[in-house]
Amino acid sequence: MRPQVTVLDAGGQYCHLIARKVRDLGVYAEVAPSETPAAELAGRKGVIISGGPSSVYDPGSPTIDPQLLHAGIPVLGICYGQQLMAHILGGRVEKGDRGEYGFAQLDLLRTDGLFRGITGRQQVWMSHRDAVQDPPPGFDVLGSTSTCTVAAMASAERGLYAVQFHPEVAHTPCGTQILTNFVFGACGCVKDWDPAGQVQAIENQIRAVAKDRNIFFFVSGGVDSTVAYTLCLRALGPERVHGTYVDTGLMRQGETEFVRENFASLGARAFAVEDAAQQFLSALKSAVQPEAKRHIIGEEFVRVQQRILESEHFLDGRWILGQGTIYPDTIESGGSAKADLIKTHHNRVAGIQKLIDDGRIIEPLASFYKDEVRAIGRQLGIAPELLDRHPFPGPGLAIRCLCATLEAPVEKLQEGWLLPVQSVGVQGDSRTYRAVLAIDGFPDSHEESSSLINKMDRINRVVAEVWTSAKLRDMRAVPGFLTAERLGRLRHADAIVRRLTHASGFDHAVWQFPVVLMPLGTPERPDSVVLRPIDSVDGMTASVVRMPKDLLDEIVRELSAIPGIAGVFYDLTNKPPATIEWE
Ligand code: XMP
Repeated sequence: MRPQVTVLDAGGQYCHLIARKVRDLGVYAEVAPSETPAAELAGRKGVIISGGPSSVYDPGSPTIDPQLLHAGIPVLGICYGQQLMAHILGGRVEKGDRGEYGFAQLDLLRTDGLFRGITGRQQVWMSHRDAVQDPPPGFDVLGSTSTCTVAAMASAERGLYAVQFHPEVAHTPCGTQILTNFVFGACGCVKDWDPAGQVQAIENQIRAVAKDRNIFFFVSGGVDSTVAYTLCLRALGPERVHGTYVDTGLMRQGETEFVRENFASLGARAFAVEDAAQQFLSALKSAVQPEAKRHIIGEEFVRVQQRILESEHFLDGRWILGQGTIYPDTIESGGSAKADLIKTHHNRVAGIQKLIDDGRIIEPLASFYKDEVRAIGRQLGIAPELLDRHPFPGPGLAIRCLCATLEAPVEKLQEGWLLPVQSVGVQGDSRTYRAVLAIDGFPDSHEESSSLINKMDRINRVVAEVWTSAKLRDMRAVPGFLTAERLGRLRHADAIVRRLTHASGFDHAVWQFPVVLMPLGTPERPDSVVLRPIDSVDGMTASVVRMPKDLLDEIVRELSAIPGIAGVFYDLTNKPPATIEWE
C-alpha cells in the first residue's frame, strides 16, 4: 500500500509511536529516514518530522530535504521536528543545557486549525533541551507554556505546523485530537487502513512469493511467529507449512505444552518440538555474567538451527523460510535497535543467512505493528490467551536467573542494605552493571528510588524488602549457577505469580511482569525472588506498577513455601535508570 502520511525519523524513540497513532486513526502511515528526498515524498498527503535526541547545532545531526517545506505537502514537526523546521526557515533555536522533561501546561492562543475542538489549559508532555525562541517569518505562535514561549507554531497558508511537546504519547490527552486535526483537517487524508481487513491480501501475497515451494518456520510461541505461521497455513494448506519449536529448557512452566496445543488447534500438522534443554544447560553451566549468558544462548541456538536445517533438508530448493518479523524490526531507529540486534543474532546461522541472501524468505507481517498483528490474529480466530500474552524475552528465564561465584555479605548503609548482587541498568545511553539497594518497605513517593540512585554511584536499582525468612543482615550472596534446580525454583515462582496475577486481573494492569531469582539467602534457603511488575509502551522506558496489598500478601504466602526461597523483594526502579530485565 502507498502511505498517505510518512513519518520522517529524526532519531526519536517516539517515531514509531507517531506512525502507529496515525494508523490508529485509520490512515496508512510509514516511517522513512529523515533525509528522504522531497521528490520521493511526492504524492503524500502529509509528512510528520519526529523528535530526536540531537540539537540542530550538532555536527551531523539529522536533517530533512529543505525542499520538503516548499513542496505544498502539509508538514507537522514534533519536538526536534519543530526545531528543525524553525532552523531551516530562519527562526531562532536556542540551545538549552538543562532541558525540560515531564508534564507542562499549555496555554492556547488559537483554537482553530491544529487545535480545533481543544479549549482551555491543556496538559502536555515535554522532553527537550533546545527550544524555538523566535518562530520563522510568517509563522504564528499557537500556544505557550511557562518555560517554552513557542510551544506550538504554524504557517497555516503554507500547511506548516509544529509543536514542541509530544502529541503522540498518552501523557498528552489532547494529542489524538491534534493528530486528527493535522491528518484529516490539514492533509485531507481519507480512512484507508484496517489491518484486520488485510488478511486476504496477505494470503495472496504469500501464495505469490511461495509459488510451488513450501515454508518452514522456527516458531517461538510468541504472538508474531504464531500469527505469521497461521497466515501461511491458511494460504498454502497444512501440508506445505512446517514449524519447529526449540525447547531450550529456559522457558516458563508449561510453555512447550502450551505451544504444542496451540499449533495443533490452529491445524498445524507438520509441527515438531526439538528438545535441546540438556545442550543449553551444559553450555551454560558456569556462566555468570549477563553478556556471557546471552552469547552462549545465541551460539547454541545457531547450532540447533543449523542441525535442523541440515537434517530436515530445508536448504534444498523446495523450501523457503518464514519469519514473524514485524514493522519496527525492519526499520533502523532508536526503538528497534535492540530487536535488530537480537534478530541478526539468530539469523546469523550460515544456512539462514544464505536463504536471506537468496531471497528465499517470507515475512508476512513486515509492515504491521504489534497491535495490528493482534488484530489480524483475532480476525484469524487465534485464542486471546495467546494474543494477549505479555512479551517474553527469547533467552527466557536465563536472564531472570542471576548467578554468583562468591559468597558475600550484605552491607548496612544509611539508606538501607546494599545487596551483594549486581544487575543491569541503563543511564544516559550507556549500560551499567551495579549493586542493588534494599530498603525497608515501600516509600511514599515514586521518586524516592530515582533520587537514591542519583545520589549513590554504587547502585542502579532499589528494591523494597517484602518478606525474608531470616534477618536481612544475616543473608549472603550464595554461589549459584544456571542449574536445573535453580531454574526449576524460578519456574515455580514465576508460575505462582502468573496464576495469582491472572486470577486477580492484575495482569491487565501491567505491560510485563518479570519474576527474578537472585542468589541471596542462607545455606538452607539460598535464593530470593524479586517481583518486577512494570508498565510500558514498547519496552524502551518503563514505570513501576504497585500491586494491591492483598494480592502481594497472597503471592508472598505461596512463594515463601517454595523450598529454597529466603526472601521476596519488590523492584521500585523505573527504566531508566534500571532495565526491565535483571540479566
Ligand atoms: P530491557 O531489559 O532492556 O528490556 O529493559 C526491554 C524489553 O526487551 C525484552 N527483551 C528481549 N526480548 N529477546 C527478546 O525477544 C531478548 O533477548 C530480549 N532482551 C530483553 C524485555 O523482556 C523487555 O520487554
